[in-house]
Amino acid sequence: MRLVVLTGAGISAESGVPTFRDAGGLWEGHRVEEVATPEAFERDPETVQRFYDARRRAVAQVDPNPAHDALARLERELGDNLLVVTQNIDDLHERAGSRHIVHMHGDLLMALCTACGRRSSVTAELIERPPCPQCGERMLRPDVVWFGEMPYDLDVIDEALLACDMFAAIGTSGAVYPAAGFVITAAAAGAHTIELNLTASEITPLFDEVRHGPASLVVPSWVDEVVTART
Ligand code: APR
Repeated sequence: MRLVVLTGAGISAESGVPTFRDAGGLWEGHRVEEVATPEAFERDPETVQRFYDARRRAVAQVDPNPAHDALARLERELGDNLLVVTQNIDDLHERAGSRHIVHMHGDLLMALCTACGRRSSVTAELIERPPCPQCGERMLRPDVVWFGEMPYDLDVIDEALLACDMFAAIGTSGAVYPAAGFVITAAAAGAHTIELNLTASEITPLFDEVRHGPASLVVPSWVDEVVTART
């Protein structure tokens, strides 16, 4: 049994990390174009750095919830046959114990040097302009994928989607591509597809099976079923 699980902001909502599209299109009071585009960073780097520094501090204050825990448990059962593909830039999956994971939209705990391209762990608030550990230039930006930029690891994801028996999307609105199209790739490759979300998403009709409810409830019970079905 090979499984790909795509997660979005909804899986971290009950940990206290705000989603993007549930608050009238505003993300912590900002329009997404103000903080999540390369143009915004060029125009006003300080606002963007402050925004992501604040997100990093906020995520450090919260904990994984039972949905993250359940996916870590599933990985203990399936090993590398489970790939978690997250759109989230928080580290709650890792803190719950997931290891076979890709952050397709980047990682809040990493910085990207705009001078040399090296990715490095964030060791200080980026608004303070710490130097790149590789080249020494003080030109680090958050290592997050902004609108108009290419997501990470699409080759790894594509390979896993084409080989999976089951694809699950958890807590994502299906508004952002290419992630919103993964269900189509998995289904075309013959996988059973399931959506676990609080309410209907923009792509609900594309799934074979849909379960609505808070991730902290629906994900653990779905994981129980998957684990029971294979024993
Ligand atoms: N349990 C399950 N689902 C939930 C919960 C919950 N407790 N709370 C909210 N949701 C659902 C919402 O109903 C919504 O469908 O999670 C989804 C969150 O959708 P978005 O806010 O659009 O987040 P996401 O799909 O992850 O956004 C994709 O957009 O701005 C970009 O790069 C950013 O990775 C992000 C991408």
